Formats: sequence, C-alpha cells, structure tokens
Amino acid sequence: MSACSTENKAPESIRSICCIGAGYVGGPTCAIIAHKCPEITVTVVDKNPIRIAQWNSDKLPIYEPGLQEIVMKCRGKNLFYSTNVEEGVVNADLIFISVNTPTKTYGAGKGRAADLTHVESCARIIAGCASGYKVVVEKSTVPVRAAASISEIFGANSPAASNFQVLSNPEFLAEGTAVADLLNPDRVLIGGSQTPAGLEAIALLTAVYSHWVAPERIVTMNTWSSELSKLVSNAFLAQRVSSINAVSAICEATGADISEVAEAVGRDSRIGSKFLQASVGFGGSCFQKDILNLVYVSECLNLPEVAQYWMQVIVMNDFQKSRFAKKIVSRLFNTISNKAIAVFGFAFKKNTGDTRESPAISVCAHLLEEGARLNIYDPKVETEQILSDLCHPGVCALPRERIENLVTTHADPHSAAANTHAIVVLTEWDEFKTLDYEKMIKSMLRPAWVFDGRKILDHERLMDLGFYTECIGHRYQRPQFYDHCNGHAPELLFSEKSKAFRASRQDN
Ligand code: UDX
Ligand code: ADP
Repeated sequence: MSACSTENKAPESIRSICCIGAGYVGGPTCAIIAHKCPEITVTVVDKNPIRIAQWNSDKLPIYEPGLQEIVMKCRGKNLFYSTNVEEGVVNADLIFISVNTPTKTYGAGKGRAADLTHVESCARIIAGCASGYKVVVEKSTVPVRAAASISEIFGANSPAASNFQVLSNPEFLAEGTAVADLLNPDRVLIGGSQTPAGLEAIALLTAVYSHWVAPERIVTMNTWSSELSKLVSNAFLAQRVSSINAVSAICEATGADISEVAEAVGRDSRIGSKFLQASVGFGGSCFQKDILNLVYVSECLNLPEVAQYWMQVIVMNDFQKSRFAKKIVSRLFNTISNKAIAVFGFAFKKNTGDTRESPAISVCAHLLEEGARLNIYDPKVETEQILSDLCHPGVCALPRERIENLVTTHADPHSAAANTHAIVVLTEWDEFKTLDYEKMIKSMLRPAWVFDGRKILDHERLMDLGFYTECIGHRYQRPQFYDHCNGHAPELLFSEKSKAFRASRQDN
C-alpha cells in the first residue's frame, strides 16, 4: 500500500483512497477510479469477509456488464480488497463511505427514515483510528445534513477532527449500466463546506475525477444541496415511472397504447423520452428508499402536503404491482390454486442480479398466496436469493416450507414454461425477446397465456402462435380464439360461452 499523507495539512494530490463498503456502489466506483487513476492506490474494505473473498476471486459478488474485465486488469496492481477496515482508513488520504443505508425498520421514523447505523459506525471507526489530514466522502445516499452528523462524531471522538474534511459526493450510477455511467457520467456532484479548507478538499476530489471527466461535468456546491440533489434526482426518476404507469392503467381500460402515448409525450423536448417505459413497477435499492426518506424529511419539517405529494409515487407503484398480479388471477379464470405458472425474470431490471425491492417479489408473493406453483427463471439471480426474498418476513403470508414447496427455480426458460398455464414476464431481459415461443407453447397447457409486465415481447406474433396475451398499457382487441377459427370472422363462430368469456376479459 502506498503511504498517505501523515501531515495535518492537505496533500498536493490524493495518492491513496479507501472505500468502506464493497457493494453495488463502492465496488464498481472504485474499480473505475483505479482503472482511470493508475497512480492512486485504491483499497476497498468491507466487514463482510465473504464479499471480500468474492471480490478477490474469479466470480465477483455482483454482475455488471464490463466490470469483471476492469477489476481483473487493476486488481493486485492499484486495486485491493480487504477486510481490514482500520488499516485501509489509516493508509488513505481520502475515504469513501459507501455502506448501505436501508429504510429504518424500527423506532422513530420506522418505514420512512434512512437507517444511518452503518454510516455512523464508519464515522466512529475513522474517528478512532485516523490521524493526519483526511478527506471523508459520503457516497451512500444519506438524508440532508448527514455530513453534519459525521463531522459531529469526529469532533466528539477524535483529537485529529480538525484535520478531517467531510464532503458529499453522491453516486448516480444505475445498476446494469454502472460501468458506462461511471465512465461517462452526466455529472459528478461534489458538495462541501464553502470555507477555504472545504474548497481545498473539493479541489482534491475534483482532481481525482478530472482524470476522465470533463471539467464542465463536475459540479460543486454546498453540502446540503448535494445531499438533497441525490434524493430529489431519484424521486424525479421514480415519479416519471409512476406517472407513465398510472397512464398505463388508463390505456388498458381504453383503446390507447402506452407506447404510443409515451412516444408522443416524450417527443416534447421539455419532457424528454427517457424513463417513460411503462412496467409492472419500479424496484431497486434506491427509488423507494429515497422517496421514503424525502417523505420523512418533509414530515419532520412540518410539510405534510410535500410529504403526501411524494408518497403518492410509492402508492402508485404498489398499485401497479398489485394490479398486474390481480389481472393474472382474473384472466386465469379467477383461480390459480395449484396451477403452474412460469415466471421469467426476478431481478429488479435487466443486466443485474440484484433483487432489492424487485416488483417480482410482490407479484410472486401474491401468486403464491393464491396457491400457484411458480417455475422461476432468471439468468442472473441465484435460487437462494429468490427463496430468501420470498420468505422474508412480511413478504408472503405463507410459511417457509409451503413457499419452498410451491417454488421451483429453473436453469432455462423452456423447462420453466413446460406444463404451465402461463408465462409471466417480470424483468426485461433481452433474451426473453428471442426465445422459441413456438416450441414453448407446444409444451404448455391450453389456453396458454403470456402476461408481459415489461411490454417487451412481440405480442402479435405470440397471438399468432395461439397465446392469449396481456401486457402493461395495451388492451388487445383482437379475438383470442381467432386461430381456432381458421381465419374466419370469429364473431360468427364464437359460442355464447366464449363470447361471454371474451367480454369478461375486457373488464378490468
Ligand atoms: C437508480 C438511478 O437511476 C440511479 O441514478 C441511482 O444512482 C440509483 O437508483 P437503479 O435503481 O440502478 O438506478 O436503476 P434504474 O435504471 O433507475 O431503474 C429503477 C427501476 O425503475 C427499475 O426497476 C426499472 O425497471 C424501472 N424503470 C426504469 C421502469 O419501470 N421504467 C423506466 O422507464 C425506467
Ligand atoms: P450499496 O448498494 O449502497 O452499495 P450494498 O448493500 O451493496 O449497498 O453494500 C454495502 C456494503 O457495506 C456491504 O457489503 C456491507 O457489508 C458493507 N458495510 C456496512 N457497514 C460496514 C462497516 N461498518 N464497515 C465495513 N463495511 C460495512
């Protein structure tokens, strides 16, 4: 490890970085810093020895396209992984705090406020072992004024506290595109105190990012604005998804198509076309947590209208997930007890194995509670993770043994679909678009249904193959029994019973 500054004043440049937390944020971020700054030694530390062992192995603990190659290139040269948190801290000029900040599950602010236990523990570790000049950077998403709490812990616990500068540098990477986002960020945000010492620390961190980020993309501001901007960015993105999902419900009840509406709306340059993909609901570790955090902050500031406004984004997301699950039950003749259903995708989005807050969890829990047997296939999510998510307290009303009985995971989608009544698409993995549905339907029970919760499949083709098809944001008017009528005008050929069934399908 390279020596860090032992003096009490700022070094000319950062030579050694320690990142506490080897997760979805700390892992990729530090790999890119090491890759772009060969003269800086980057050490990622974590209290979890299994995670560190995975970072030191050939199978990294997280899946991110392009990450493995970069880690392999830098590991052992200027990128190291260790469980020795104190040593990492002592040897660093700059320390990233990149630990998890989940929603509190206990005490004041339960279900809303961010749990800062891990951030506080990092602050105490730093206070206990660090000396000399240190820049301490909050990377984890934290509530506004968390930097002040960290500084206070330093002040109360470390004789060297006056040499520590606390900055906010929130991470905006999205999972599945982390490497591209880090290499080419829309902006890098650095917040710090606007004193000479604060500005000096901001300049040191700016110089790290300047290795690959253009100066006009590095935005500096005061600490509180930086902390709040992160929460607000995620709240705005989630709000767009909830907005388009709210409209998808209107589309399904009318003749409108959500893709066409999104296209029309997104072409307004003031609105823009991104984040208008209607879905079964948003997931991920950030959106819900950050909005709840914003709601809590608003409540604490005695701004109930502001709190309710943001809360509605989550209410709409919950509605979307349960609306989709209920539609599956209703279309499968109102009972799915003991029926096998294939679930395609369990991750909260494509190109990640992360399932945190995945809409698949609540949709699957609903189907299980209705008695369905689920054949789950996801290319990147492990069986243990799926079972642990579904058996987590409060997720599904069934006991663990029953869930384990009803859930089977599959290593390929064809075996997952065999002998099922329906395929339910819950993650937008690209591979789902090109599967051999012609072969698949032959192995399924009839009528065979597809419920496309991501609106990614070719529905016309699926219907041609004989699938009964439902998707988010579009109601198919075409008669589902058309194929059985040899192309003749179906209205004339339908029995009274099947006409009634078709009519019932169009009720939402
Ligand atoms: C998000 C922010 O994008 C990122 O800047 C922040 O640092 C962390 O939180 P992430 O949660 O990794 O990133 O993924 P994102 O691409 O934002 O997707 C979040 C959820 O919204 C996913 O479940 C995704 O499927 C869903 N989504 C996104 C939609 O349903 N429709 C869309 O149009 C976009
Ligand atoms: P994120 O998505 O924010 O990166 P993760 O849960 O993926 O969150 O990663 C956070 C990591 O931080 C975990 O691996 C956890 O073990 C680690 N961590 C939490 N608290 C500490 C601590 N006090 N010291 C070291 N590592 C910690």
